[in-house]
Amino acid sequence: LIFQQTSLMTINTNDPDIIVKSPGRINLIGEHIDYNGGHVLPAAIDRKVTMWFRKKDNSLCRVNSEDEGAFTFDINEPLQISDTHWENYVLGVVDGVVKARPQKLGGFDCVISSELPIGAGISSSAALECGVAKGLNDLFDLGLSNLELIEISRMAEHNFVGTKCGVMDQFAVTMGKRKKLLLLNCETLDYKLIDAEFAPYKILLLNTNVSHNLASSEYNTRREECEQALAVIQKDHPAYDFLADVPESIIETYKEKLSEKVYQRALFVSRENARTLKAAELIQRGDIRGFGKLMYQTHEGLSKNYEVSCPELDFLVDLSKNLPQVVGSRMMGGGFGGCTINLVEEGFVNEFMDLASKAYKQKFDINLTSILVATSNGVETVNSES
Ligand code: GLA
Repeated sequence: LIFQQTSLMTINTNDPDIIVKSPGRINLIGEHIDYNGGHVLPAAIDRKVTMWFRKKDNSLCRVNSEDEGAFTFDINEPLQISDTHWENYVLGVVDGVVKARPQKLGGFDCVISSELPIGAGISSSAALECGVAKGLNDLFDLGLSNLELIEISRMAEHNFVGTKCGVMDQFAVTMGKRKKLLLLNCETLDYKLIDAEFAPYKILLLNTNVSHNLASSEYNTRREECEQALAVIQKDHPAYDFLADVPESIIETYKEKLSEKVYQRALFVSRENARTLKAAELIQRGDIRGFGKLMYQTHEGLSKNYEVSCPELDFLVDLSKNLPQVVGSRMMGGGFGGCTINLVEEGFVNEFMDLASKAYKQKFDINLTSILVATSNGVETVNSES
């Protein structure tokens, strides 16, 4: 792969110092509870961002994305938030790495090519962040641990991009393992690997190809609403540090003390955490149908209690409910667009894609795209592109 020559292009991707492959992620269940100290069940996937890095002998850095264009900055100057949204994923990480290892970085070239659709809820952003973090760590031999790389990437999103995200995406992208799911406790960061064994079902993502621009602001609002709920509950129950730890029976006693909206958010969070633990048990027992039912419950909660779905996502989930070959379906990720994640009988995958695309096109006049995913390893430095 050699990129079109642009004035900013100096790296020949046939001759990099290192190549990094950084995956997107799926999340089986446990949505919007990472920032509430709950449990999540993500996995890294076989769709990736590839990055070629090369050291330079001066302090100028050039970053060139195949899809988004190129920009430059000086590693020895303070980094500023950019008006060009995507650049902040890179700049935020570089800033975090420089602060973690002052004086250790020099100039570099980085070329980026992505297979991950943006706004699809499969964490193209975390893939980019964690890829830059891993690339700089290996290129300059910085010795940062995986947990440090995860934290630097997450804080880039808080400080440069402005989304107060939880830890799930960066953790899954960094720590993912082929054929495994990560049952991650977001309060302690303890995790357990679980076999990603769903036969005879396949994991199919249906991309609505809409990404309503509420996503970022509403995300931060949900976080604040959860903080409000916790603050009220903590007055009587100071032992709870995180909302996800509060049992549903206690949340129910706050119906009058919280606004209806905040009460609904808290109910969802408590239930979703319990569902995730139950789901991990069912998957380990091979009860995929039982797990599928929980996926539908999660969607219902995200749509009605947490209000982060949208008509396009609801339509696809509703459509699947009438099809016995689809055992579970729900919106995935932050919401307001992006993908649904579906567990579909292997022999029905093509037919399902076909009928969902037709129905979706008829209803919204938008083309649906589908992604059949497998789990994969987290971000890694590779010797060649294959
Ligand atoms: C986004 C955030 C994650 C998580 C999910 C919802 O992907 O980056 O931290 O909160 O939304 O589960």
